[in-house]
Amino acid sequence: MTASGVRIEWLDEIDSTNEESRRRFRAGEIGPLWIAARRQTAGRGRRGRAWADLSRNLYCSGLYSLKCMPGEAAQLSFAAALAAAEVCQSALADHTPKVKWPNDVLIDGQKVCGILLESADAPGQVVQLVVGIGINIMAAPDIPERPAVSLASLGASINPATALEFLVERFEHWRSVWAREGFTPIREAWLARAHGVGQRCLVRLENETLEGVFTDLAADGSLKLELAGGQSRLISAGDVFFPGALG
Ligand code: BTN
Repeated sequence: MTASGVRIEWLDEIDSTNEESRRRFRAGEIGPLWIAARRQTAGRGRRGRAWADLSRNLYCSGLYSLKCMPGEAAQLSFAAALAAAEVCQSALADHTPKVKWPNDVLIDGQKVCGILLESADAPGQVVQLVVGIGINIMAAPDIPERPAVSLASLGASINPATALEFLVERFEHWRSVWAREGFTPIREAWLARAHGVGQRCLVRLENETLEGVFTDLAADGSLKLELAGGQSRLISAGDVFFPGALG
């Protein structure tokens, strides 16, 4: 149990903490509950990718039942990214972790944390939300196209349990800000930490790749991309690459 009264449960091994959260919802759990695992045998990443299982990294998912529309619940992925960035910052005072659209955390342009939000509608206009977070605490995967880094390799000595307690506390902070004041303060805090605003980037969508300038985060959390010729596109799902820089 954390100071904010949210339950935390540690498991030795599970297929995926997101999958386990979904099973818990089906079994009647309503949250808030965070499930963490020392090992994941089938960790999931965004866009159908796998998430590597490396020893002593943090793998966790928060289960929440929220009275809101599914699109609003998705705004909490930005709150999760802010909370994760604050955990990394707390472990590495001389670095400034950045958030990258849609919800990665980068240190010096390299990915240190990934977030996978999954939701389902429940009866009575309740959204069941699973906020899955993986933080590279001790090790980072070696994927040339997606440079990654661990907190330990930069000199941090935080352990997964301490990281999780602080993560839950910061997520609860941002969730209560969101519940009271809506997305605006989350959006502003996210933009203040954002990687690549005003920079050229490539956005890989399901069936096309766009090139443009990342100008803003829209009020619904979409990325605003200004294309050559001046027209703007709002991107709600995709992978963003900043050429010439890592990440
Ligand atoms: C990404 O692709 O960047 C998102 C990665 C999310 C990984 C975390 S690890 C804990 C939780 N359980 C999963 O299976 N995935 C998320």
